[in-house]
Amino acid sequence: MNKITTLDEFIIHHEKLQSDSTGRLTSVLRDIGIAAKIVNREVNKAGLVNILGIEGSSNASGDQVQKLDLFANEKFIKCLSNSGECAAIVSEENQQIIHLPKVKDKKPGYLVVMDPLDGSSNIDVNVSVGTIFGIYKIRGEETEVTKESFLQKGSDIIAAGYVLYGTSTMLVYTTGNGINGFTLDPSIGEFCLSHPNIKIPDRGNYYSVNQGYYLKFDVEMRRYIDYCCDLNLRLRYIGSMVSDVHRMLFQGGIFLYPNTRKYPQGKLRLLYECVPMSMVVEQAGGRAINSKLQQILDVEPQDIHQRSTIVIGSPEMITEMEEFIKKYTLIDSVV
Ligand code: AHG
Ligand code: MN
Ligand code: MN
Repeated sequence: MNKITTLDEFIIHHEKLQSDSTGRLTSVLRDIGIAAKIVNREVNKAGLVNILGIEGSSNASGDQVQKLDLFANEKFIKCLSNSGECAAIVSEENQQIIHLPKVKDKKPGYLVVMDPLDGSSNIDVNVSVGTIFGIYKIRGEETEVTKESFLQKGSDIIAAGYVLYGTSTMLVYTTGNGINGFTLDPSIGEFCLSHPNIKIPDRGNYYSVNQGYYLKFDVEMRRYIDYCCDLNLRLRYIGSMVSDVHRMLFQGGIFLYPNTRKYPQGKLRLLYECVPMSMVVEQAGGRAINSKLQQILDVEPQDIHQRSTIVIGSPEMITEMEEFIKKYTLIDSVV
């Protein structure tokens, strides 16, 4: 039997290999791993909501039943408070930044951005959801953490990943040396290394976009989607970015959330959806750009909850899409 490597063993081993290792990032990643297990347990119970009590009511033990995205938010915040290494969090669920309490004499070195539950509308119908996270260092010159501390370029991110609560639960993360996937073994309650050194295929047979918005997309984007249809690519759209991008990572393809009339800047959030997923995909050999064809990781954020368009996936397909949009923008400007 092959030796099992747990997430904790892997994190510790890999941080030791880095020359500037202090073990501090390890603590933040471990906090995230623990929160993921707690959220997983609750996601698995979601189908029992009618037995255990609906949101807002009291459950059998007299506790108030919470919406799952708020539950996940709370658990991640609580777990990230454990090690004292994370100073503050930006979460989709909180308008303001969340300052974490200091732990003894520790000086925290990190900031975390997160979407605690991605694709939350899928919960009621027993379809996969996820968590997205990114970790930044507090910049050396900063004496106190404010909203501005989080306005770092995506390329400054030092670790990123996601958890997919699917048919099995997986945690995929990177610290900038490739990406690795861990599957939760419920019998031992540990994430075990199951997908080492993941590489995205150069191309794939899938495209993923909410095609129901077709008429709300720019004309170049509509032409590109027509082109995907012409190529007979298979359309897959789960409505949870984590799940949709996860498919592309393993099977190859392209995921798009362009600007629509309702969301002229795109719908997804730059800091805690687009940037972490872009870092993961780039570390697997893929690419991620926005509808203006800028690299997502090069965008300078102006606001912690800023939205962004995104086109992410297999490298050859992103480059082809880029060429396609450039060509048709040029044709349109001449006509
Ligand atoms: P969240 O549940 O965190 O609000 O995110 C949902 C996001 C994303 O996961 C998904 O790709 C997209 O919204 C789906 O949006 P549409 O329903 O507009 O396609
Ligand atoms: Mn989301
Ligand atoms: Mn969410």
